[in-house]
Amino acid sequence: MAAHLAKHRRYVEKVNELVHPDLEPGTTMVSVYLAALEEGDYQLFDAASQAFYHALYWRCLDPDREGNDPSMRSTAQDMVERGMQHFGSGWLCLVDQPRVKTYVQETVMNAERPTAETFGAGTVAFTTDLWEHAWYFDYPDGKREYLEGLLLGGYARWDVLDEPPETGGVWTP
Ligand SMILES: [Fe+2]
Repeated sequence: MAAHLAKHRRYVEKVNELVHPDLEPGTTMVSVYLAALEEGDYQLFDAASQAFYHALYWRCLDPDREGNDPSMRSTAQDMVERGMQHFGSGWLCLVDQPRVKTYVQETVMNAERPTAETFGAGTVAFTTDLWEHAWYFDYPDGKREYLEGLLLGGYARWDVLDEPPETGGVWTP
């Protein structure tokens, strides 16, 4: 956990190091990575996107939760399989598609944006870290064990879907 938090911290520090000094105070991390993407600044995009994903990831976890939401079981099972099929580093996402009132499951490589977000005008509403550092220390042989424990074992905080979308925090000078 400490190693994982240190990674998140390094992404935030990298954003602070790279971000344009004229950036408006209060700018969200989402705005930072979208602007970086548009400008082709992939170093800043990677750091800001990783900072956003990690901020949302922590919000999606609840270590004290007892039991799981039965209405999310089928979704969670599908997510486990989707996460297992993903090779390499990345993120497992539920992307809100408000126009059609549903969530699209998608995995992305590294810290990329889901195509469902890019083309569907939605937002990443729930995410699970698929980078090896998220599971290897506790489950050296067990990415499945990690995904099942998190998504089916009661650690997922599905309430996050009913909350305002994560913006990754704000940048303040
Ligand atoms: Fe991570």
